[in-house]
Amino acid sequence: MSLRRVQVTDFRCLQSAALDLDPRFTLISGPNASGKTSLLEAIYILGRGRSFRTRRLEHLIRQGAEQFVVFGEVETPDRRIPMGVEGMAAGIRARVAGEKTSSLAELALMLPVQIIDPEVHRLIEEGPSRRRRFLDWGVFHVEPSFIGHWQRYHQALKQRNAALKSRQPRAVISAWDPDLVRYGDLVTDARSRYVAFLAHQAETVGRNLLGMDLTLSYRPGWSREQSFSEAVQQSWNHDQESGATQVGPHRAELSIRLEGMGVKDRISRGQQKLLAAALLLAQVKLFPESAPVQPCLLLDDPAAELDDDRLAGLIREVSEHSVQLIVTTLHGEFAAFGAPGRRFTVDAGRVVPH
Ligand SMILES: Nc1ncnc2c1ncn2[C@@H]1O[C@H](COP(=O)(O)OP(=O)(O)O)[C@@H](O)[C@H]1O
Ligand SMILES: [Mg+2]
Repeated sequence: MSLRRVQVTDFRCLQSAALDLDPRFTLISGPNASGKTSLLEAIYILGRGRSFRTRRLEHLIRQGAEQFVVFGEVETPDRRIPMGVEGMAAGIRARVAGEKTSSLAELALMLPVQIIDPEVHRLIEEGPSRRRRFLDWGVFHVEPSFIGHWQRYHQALKQRNAALKSRQPRAVISAWDPDLVRYGDLVTDARSRYVAFLAHQAETVGRNLLGMDLTLSYRPGWSREQSFSEAVQQSWNHDQESGATQVGPHRAELSIRLEGMGVKDRISRGQQKLLAAALLLAQVKLFPESAPVQPCLLLDDPAAELDDDRLAGLIREVSEHSVQLIVTTLHGEFAAFGAPGRRFTVDAGRVVPH
């Protein structure tokens, strides 16, 4: 099952565009600044409720318009399920099957979307929060109960931190500890299980794409010699001084090593891009075959980023798995992924079938 239709209104430079997508491979071509990335961004926001380019919603609204709308239809065996996202300066509103969503996780369940774009190296280069988000998206699709545990953990953390900051008595602060530890342990267990699977996939993809030994491990956000509960107890003075909880899954890190060495500041930009692409592909490959909707993989101008050999490697990795591919390219001709089921050209914000 896949995203079969997307309609975009007042999103970036796209005033009004509608695309009927192929379940396997759709190719979008057009000159620079025509709106190719904006189209992928619109699809991404439909599945994630956020952009990969900016946190500021007002940047996404077409200049002069009040709000943007992205509408999609996901095909299931018996019907097409509509979903939509509206964005205005005040925030975002989403609907799935005609009902308002209570959390953005509902969008993710309907449309699991992943992107490899020219900024993909940020996954390696930036701080751990980006890697935690990467991890959590994957965990959520393998274990849907994860999102509830994650939310309960963050609720407890927020309350505990508020109590620490306003210098409440210890009993008031510690009242949050049982929830913090209970849900923190559940989040940690789910992430650890996932990283064990991911590490295995990443090793193969890393070898194929980078020709290097890629190893992943999960650091839970406190010293491994202790339980989380012990770590929370021990961190008390530190927490009190700093006014915030210093240990826990919110401080976790996905540790990435190439040929046994840490990657930060050690590898070239080109290698960072390949490494990040390898991680994202490993995640797509790990996507459960039993999931109701196949993952939708957006590739933004891959030909500009990768040489022919790397591109061939990427295609091999992708073609082994059932994914819906939506690819952009500067040039109309793009043979690398075989013949697209559908093609579109974009020019100055106008999208036409090709
Ligand atoms: N909020 C907006 N309103 C109108 N135009 C925008 C907005 N945000 C970006 N643009 C314009 O959209 C154009 C297309 O951008 P983009 O999708 O990145 O093009 P491409 O990927 O085809 O190179 C750019 O010229 C940019 O200035
Ligand atoms: Mg672009």
